[in-house]
Amino acid sequence: MENQTEKKKIVFSAIQPSGTITLGNYLGALKNWVKMQDEFNCIFALADLHTITVRQEPAAFRKNICEAYASLLACGIDPEKSPFFIQSHVTTHAQLAWVLNCYTQFGELSRMTQFKDKSAKHADNVNAGLFTYPTLMAADILLYQADMVPVGADQKQHLELARNIAERFNGIYSPTFKVPDPYIAKSGARVMSLQDPLKKMSKSDENANSFVTLLDKPDGIMKKFKRAVTDSEARVAYGEGKDGINNLMSIYATITGKTYEQIEQEFDGKGYGDFKTAVGEAVVEELRPVQERFERYVADKAYMQECYKKSADFAQKLSQRTLDKAMKKIGFVLR
Ligand code: TRP
Repeated sequence: MENQTEKKKIVFSAIQPSGTITLGNYLGALKNWVKMQDEFNCIFALADLHTITVRQEPAAFRKNICEAYASLLACGIDPEKSPFFIQSHVTTHAQLAWVLNCYTQFGELSRMTQFKDKSAKHADNVNAGLFTYPTLMAADILLYQADMVPVGADQKQHLELARNIAERFNGIYSPTFKVPDPYIAKSGARVMSLQDPLKKMSKSDENANSFVTLLDKPDGIMKKFKRAVTDSEARVAYGEGKDGINNLMSIYATITGKTYEQIEQEFDGKGYGDFKTAVGEAVVEELRPVQERFERYVADKAYMQECYKKSADFAQKLSQRTLDKAMKKIGFVLR
């Protein structure tokens, strides 16, 4: 946290505490966040305010927040290097979100594909928060003057909107918000479902064999990989129409650092059974230390509290500057 004044680029990202974290979240996002901590001034948040756009059961929601916080620490997010706070602890997020709502058009929000998808999926609860979710996300990012935001494909449209909102506000008044760029990691996999490799791995999939979570036990992980859908060619090689094998190769490559050619050589003449076992074992070994650390952190509430409190204090102070700046330009009288 001491290094925040250095001229390193500012990176902001957040993840929702909406249930178990999957291998997809880990390999696709979190592993990169951990790596970025040394290169950039990273600020991370648990986006709990976003999560209530879908109805949550209170006890489960509370548990998910604590477990998600512990999970990210276990993955290697270090609050000493990168403040990692809980969104609802920092009051500026909801405040700036309201302001930005007034600089965002109904039409723009209506075009968000995630809104269309989610309102179809939760037709009984198409609430205003679901609709304005992207302005809260824009507030998250713009409050910290973030240069870069690592996001997956599903959040690209929201980031694009955040950029438009920033540019619009800057244009009406004068430069106030840094216009953030998407950060595309050099490594990092788009992990697909183990049962339908054309779909992204998702914890909301009805088929539990399609996803692996950060906390799955070794024998469960092995079983899921052994059942993974492949093809009838029986050749470990990356190629068109081999989505299942491509996915397994991508997982294996991300964990071991091996190239696809090296993997093809390693399994030359071997069957899919051997390959699936090797991928499963690599995942088990990758997650073992994460799971051990997770157990330690969830059991140490005092340590977690210290981490999220310190981080929230830091974030509150930093973000207040941006909020004040924006409010002043609009014409508000500051307290
Ligand atoms: N909406 C993001 C998701 O569901 C989480 C998120 C909230 C986020 N605020 C953010 C991501 C700001 C990046 C930047 O994945």
